[in-house]
Parts: sequence; C-alpha cells; structure tokens
Amino acid sequence: MADQPRADLIAPDTHGPRSHTCGALRADDEGAEVTLKGWVDTRRDHGGLVFVDLRDRYGLTQVVFSPQDNEAAYEAAGRLRREDVISVHGVVRPRGDEMINPDLATGRIEVKAQELNVLNTAETPPFLVSAHEERQMDTNEDLRLKHRYLDLRRPALQDNLVLRHRLYQTTRRYFDDHDFVEVETPVLMKSTPEGARDFLVPSRLQPGRFYALPQSPQTYKQLLMVGGMDRYVQIVKCFRDEDLRADRQPEFTQIDVEMTFATEEQVYALTEGLMADLWADLEDTDLETPFPRMPYEEALRTYGTDKPDLRFDLKLHDVSDAFAGSGFRVFESIVDDGGHIIALRVPDAGDTGRAAMDRLEEYVTEEIGAAGLIYFQFPADGSGMTQNLSTDAMPKAYGRAAAEQIGADTGDLMLVLAGQAPTVYEQAGQLRLHLGEQLGLRPDPGTGPDQFVWITDFPLVEYDPDAGRYVSMHHPFTAPQPDDLDALEDDPEAVQARAYDLVLNGNEIGGGSIRIHTRSTQEQMFDLLGIGPEEAQDRFGFLLDALRYGAPPHGGIALGLDRLVMLLAGADSLRDVIAFPKNQSGQEPMVQSPDWVDPEQLEELALRLDLPPDVEPPAHVARRKRLAS
Ligand code: AMO
Repeated sequence: MADQPRADLIAPDTHGPRSHTCGALRADDEGAEVTLKGWVDTRRDHGGLVFVDLRDRYGLTQVVFSPQDNEAAYEAAGRLRREDVISVHGVVRPRGDEMINPDLATGRIEVKAQELNVLNTAETPPFLVSAHEERQMDTNEDLRLKHRYLDLRRPALQDNLVLRHRLYQTTRRYFDDHDFVEVETPVLMKSTPEGARDFLVPSRLQPGRFYALPQSPQTYKQLLMVGGMDRYVQIVKCFRDEDLRADRQPEFTQIDVEMTFATEEQVYALTEGLMADLWADLEDTDLETPFPRMPYEEALRTYGTDKPDLRFDLKLHDVSDAFAGSGFRVFESIVDDGGHIIALRVPDAGDTGRAAMDRLEEYVTEEIGAAGLIYFQFPADGSGMTQNLSTDAMPKAYGRAAAEQIGADTGDLMLVLAGQAPTVYEQAGQLRLHLGEQLGLRPDPGTGPDQFVWITDFPLVEYDPDAGRYVSMHHPFTAPQPDDLDALEDDPEAVQARAYDLVLNGNEIGGGSIRIHTRSTQEQMFDLLGIGPEEAQDRFGFLLDALRYGAPPHGGIALGLDRLVMLLAGADSLRDVIAFPKNQSGQEPMVQSPDWVDPEQLEELALRLDLPPDVEPPAHVARRKRLAS
C-alpha cells in the first residue's frame, strides 16, 4: 500500500525545549509536568487509549493519550506511525502494578499526554527500527547501510558510538597526563609502505602526480621525533586499499604513538597503562599488568598464528619424531622433505561419533585446505585406541607413542596434520580455533575474561617468493636487534626485529617497533629490501635527509582503535562500531561511494579512463569517453 504522507498532521513545535530525555524519568518524578521529544518506537491502541513508546538516544518512555485529556491529541496519536517525530507535553504518573516493566529504566512511570505536536512524519521504513532488540529483524546488511541514518537509531549501534566516544576521551586524557602532544599529520601525503595498496589522489596543480592517503603516519611521526616533539600521539584516520574482512576497513582509525629515547619496555608499560585505564573506565574491570609476552616463533609453533587466542588451551605439538619409522608413506615423505607432523589433544572427545569425525575431516580438507586429517581416539571406557588408518598403513604403536608425548589418554581425541612449515602450523592453528568454537572453549565476543599478550622477537624480514625479494615483516623503518646487525647481509631471515604486536583474544590490536635512527642502517635496510639508492632517495629522501641531522633514537606503536572498540563492545564486525562504514566491496551504499566523476573533472586532472570491457560507465561518462578517443 502506498504511504500516505499525512502532511496535515505536521505542526510547529509550540512546546519549547524538552524538559527531559526519553530515558530520564523515574518514579519520584510523579506529578511533574514534562516535555519529551523523540521518535515513535511503537504505537498500541487499547480500549480507548493510545500508548506510544517514545524513543531517543537515552531510552524509551511510555506516553498515554486519552480522549478525556485532549480529544485532538488522542485523534492525532491514533494516526502516528513508527519513526514519526513528536513532542509531547504531559504529566508523569506511576504505572499500574501489572504495567511495570522492570527491564526498562523508565518502566515504573508513564507520561499522561496533554498535548501533542507532530514535528514530522515518517514513511514506512525499509526495515524495522526499534529499541526493543527482540524485534530486530535480520535485515540484509547492504539495506541497513543504504539507510544508515535509520540503522543508527538502534540503541545497540548508538551505544557503540557512545562507547567509542568514551574511548577517545580516556585515551586523550591518558596521553595528556603522560606529556604527549597530539599533532595532526597530513592526509594528502605520499606513499608509506605498510604492506597494502595506496589510495591515490590526483593532483590538479601538478598534472600526472598523485598524493597518497596515509596507510599510517609512520614517517611523519618519526620526523616529529627528529623535530624534537619528544612524545606524540594522534587519533588518526589511515587508509589501506586491501581485501576487506570483518576486522578490516579501507578507512580505519589508529591511536598512533611515538616516543623519543623509547625502549621496548617503555612502550609496553605505556600501552598497558592505557589498556588498564580503558578497561577501568569502560568495562569497570581491573586489568592485570604487565601482560604476558611470547616470542613470535613460540606463538607460531604452539598456536599456529602470530595472534594467538590464549583464552583456551589446545596447543599444537610437533610429533614428527614419534612417527619416525612408522612406514606411513605420507608422513615419511613430508618429514623427509623437512616438514612436520603436528598433533592436538582434544580432551573429552574420545567418543566422538563417526559422522562428526567425517564432518571434521571435511572441514579440514575443504575449509582449511589440508591434505587430510589422521586421528586417534581413546574412548572413555578405556577400551584402548582406534585410528582412521588401517594398521597395515601404520602400526598402532606409533599413534600411542605420539599420544604419550602429548599426554593424550583415555577419553581424549588426538588430531594429526602433516605438511611443510609454516603452512601446516597455520592449518593446525585454524583447526585449533575451529575446535575452540565447536567445543565452546572460545568465549563469544564481549563475554569471558580478556586475554592480552605481547608477541615479540619477530623476524625483521621474510622472503617473498612471488616478488623474488625480502619484504619487511612490519615496515622498513623497524630497527634490527643490535646483536643481529652483522647477519643483515649474509642471513637476513635470521635477523630479529625490535618489533612487537599487541594481541587481545586472538585479534591483533596493535603493532610497533623501535625504529632505525641512523642513516647508514636505514640505507642498508632499503638495500636489503631491494630498494636501490636512487629509488630510496626518490621515495624516502626526506627521511634519509632527516637522519643526517641528529635524529634521536625513538620508537612507538599504533593501536587499531576500531578493533579495540569492537572488542570492548562485544561486536563481531568493525561495521558495528563505525558510523558510516564501507561494505565488503569497499562501497558505502548510502552515499554510493566510490562514484563516477564528471568528465570535466577528469580532464582537469589530465586523466582518462581505460576501463575493462565488462565495466559499463553511466551514459554521461561513456559519451565523454567516446568523444575523447
Ligand atoms: P600496523 O600496520 O600494524 O602498524 O597497524 C596498527 C594497527 O592498526 C590496525 N589495523 C586495522 N584496523 C582496521 N582495518 C584495517 N584495514 C587495519 N589495518 C591495521 C590493527 C593494527 O595492529 N605504522 C605502524 C605502527 C608503528 O610501527 O608504530 C602501523 O601502522 O589493529
């Protein structure tokens, strides 16, 4: 049915400012004359009365219209619809005993309406917006994003933005208390390598040249240290053109920090202090500091990832030796090629039925991409061990030896994957997370205790076989461990970095390092990464120059603000903590960015489109294209 605009309902606001928000009134306000303004959350007509739940950011208040109080207001209230904007003048009165809603802060009172101004009407929204979370429908996310202003009326999203705001406040207060100065760095800059593609902005005044939006303010914050600012912080937007996931947005926010004369210990202590303040202010929780630390190598070998979720056990074990001489060809050839056999002990899963084990095997091969899953079960009745391999392929003694090594016994299940490092560790790590979820060991976001860990002792570089050269594990400005400097040329992969990541419940929430502060080491580093002297001068001449003039030692960290808010809010996507996020395709469905631009704009920028054949530009762009060619 077509929407009736109901324009005749709309009236000027004769009530003056609101006296209370919709979340403010309590039982002891009984008798008060009040003015409330907000959105119609729901309207119910009951035996000659109209009940409206009035909503704003602060809560819901029940308003009752009766013909005895004001006939015209009652009539108008009867025509109200969801999301109409109204102003109500009335008197607070207690609800009858059976009408009390203990789940609502205002649930003991209602407002008996004397006057109603309908300030604006709403058409039927494309999806239900309600403060009553149980009424939320599981609406397609793009539709929600297209009408983000409606989705934002949901208390859950508003609460997340308020939480985000409070996180800014605590963060700024914390850094101010520690003598940090907030400095803004340019958004129109040139490429800083953080491992993603740049978003480029063409220059009109310098045709053919492009600014790059910062992937992070890394070089600028280092230059601020050279400039003597000593302690810098910035809550800053960063831009990375990379494949999107639930925990990645192309445009995101960092709490970016740099300190002159910093050591790793100082960065750890400073960051832990911030986390403690955030958890105290926002979660009302005392965090235990210092956080545990784990070398990168140990994280990979034990958890199969450099961002381990330490809230549950299920560690990985290398059982290659236990299977030596087993005669099982798959294992033997993998180990002969330098690979590993990795086992996990799953407690209380020794009696898992065949169907569930088949599903797990399918998951391992289909989702994780491992070649296969070998498993050994130890039923709870103590009846011994079964394996999903014939004893011809492998005598049971080998499975028993591996089980003994990892402490798997009666009642347990032992899962075994084999392959080359690091892939087999990563696969076993994914299997560990999957089991953690399946077995309910991994608390849902926002529930259960939070587990921080510093990951340390990263390699400085890794070899990228596709590019045929070494690439930085963090970025090219990270200092090598001084003891490893000699190996920089001969055995770069053995060099450790003065870098660290902060991990929370299996999510990387920050990363940083002590930086290179001498020109010679920075040049050596560029050389190692295959950036020749000319290219280095061209791309990073400003930094190399700055390092000539008394650059102090310095280091810092950047924390992913959106990820922190997501974890604090118990949300499972960054989109739930960003007011206007991009969707999985990097688009913003509401304003419809990215968008085509006028041909005149392209011309001014000396740009011409060369689109792939399957991309159809709209008529005005296409027309111009034909004219241009
Ligand atoms: P790094 O690249 O590790 O370090 O980034 C720091 C933190 O930013 C968050 N993050 C993201 N959050 C949302 N969406 C993204 N696309 C995204 N990418 C990164 C993560 C990450 O830990 N300049 C260095 C810091 C330094 O060395 O001081 C840097 O940017 O939580």
